[in-house]
Amino acid sequence: MNSHQDIAISHASVVWITGASQGIGEAVAIAMARQGVTVAASARNVDRLAELARQSTDWQGRVIPYPLDVTDQTAVHKTVNEIIEHHGGIDQAILNAGTYISTPAIEFTSDAVRQQVELNLMGVCHCLEPLIATMKKQGQGVIAINASLAGYRGLPKAAGYGATKAALINMAESLNSELWKEGIAIKVINPGFVKTPLTSKNRFPMPFLMAVDKAAEVIVKGMQGRQFEIRFPRMFAAIMGLLRHLPYPLYFWLVRKTG
Ligand SMILES: NC(=O)c1ccc[n+]([C@@H]2O[C@H](COP(=O)([O-])OP(=O)(O)OC[C@H]3O[C@@H](n4cnc5c(N)ncnc54)[C@H](OP(=O)(O)O)[C@@H]3O)[C@@H](O)[C@H]2O)c1
Repeated sequence: MNSHQDIAISHASVVWITGASQGIGEAVAIAMARQGVTVAASARNVDRLAELARQSTDWQGRVIPYPLDVTDQTAVHKTVNEIIEHHGGIDQAILNAGTYISTPAIEFTSDAVRQQVELNLMGVCHCLEPLIATMKKQGQGVIAINASLAGYRGLPKAAGYGATKAALINMAESLNSELWKEGIAIKVINPGFVKTPLTSKNRFPMPFLMAVDKAAEVIVKGMQGRQFEIRFPRMFAAIMGLLRHLPYPLYFWLVRKTG
């Protein structure tokens, strides 16, 4: 019987990346295509995906656009079917499309939470559904879910975002505990702050802010490795990991001091 450790994940020929038009997803798509991978790239920005595809003609692998809004469940199923039809299967998927909407507690709105749940959480679920069925048939596959270190514990102004990311971490743990039997490895990516169009909107200090190319390098390496969690930058991840295990009184005392 297969164990998680036995699943062959060092070779990947077809990788599907959502949220590939900018930021982390784009950087991973470029890094992988440069290494010879066929990248099926999804996002809503058709022009940006087409530009990436054009650039990739000079690389060892290719970027092939599959424009998609991941909040549209029917469209997600259709896209997965198209990728399989064109390439014979999907070896790895990186479910990365997501956003951050600041939700200060005093201005709490269900709408801000709903928007993030629809994209960050349900968008991933829409992709998981056809991917798990496909990879079960293939008898192998790797699915990485891009969550966040912000999913470790409740942080100020992130009640909506953090809730979606904590849910994704929990979901990945749950799926991984079962899907190894089918030859499917589930991974969770937990970045700290990465310099992308998303974080360029932030007006607060971002400790250990990482360059997007460096983040992509860590993700690509992690996708080839056997570990469940890909987290970075190392120091910030270690600090957040420590905070995760602090007792509540100490945790809130520290967070209130920084907020
Ligand atoms: N940057 C960080 O510091 C950081 C830290 C921790 C976790 N993360 C996570 O990493 C992921 C990527 O973040 P990023 O910083 O690279 O963000 P970003 O620069 O805003 O990029 C987000 C990507 O998601 C796509 N997207 C947004 N809505 C979509 C939808 N409905 N359907 C399909 N694609 C959609 C965007 O493309 P279109 O607009 O073209 O659709 C874009 O390609 C997110 O899940 C984020 O939560 C980021």
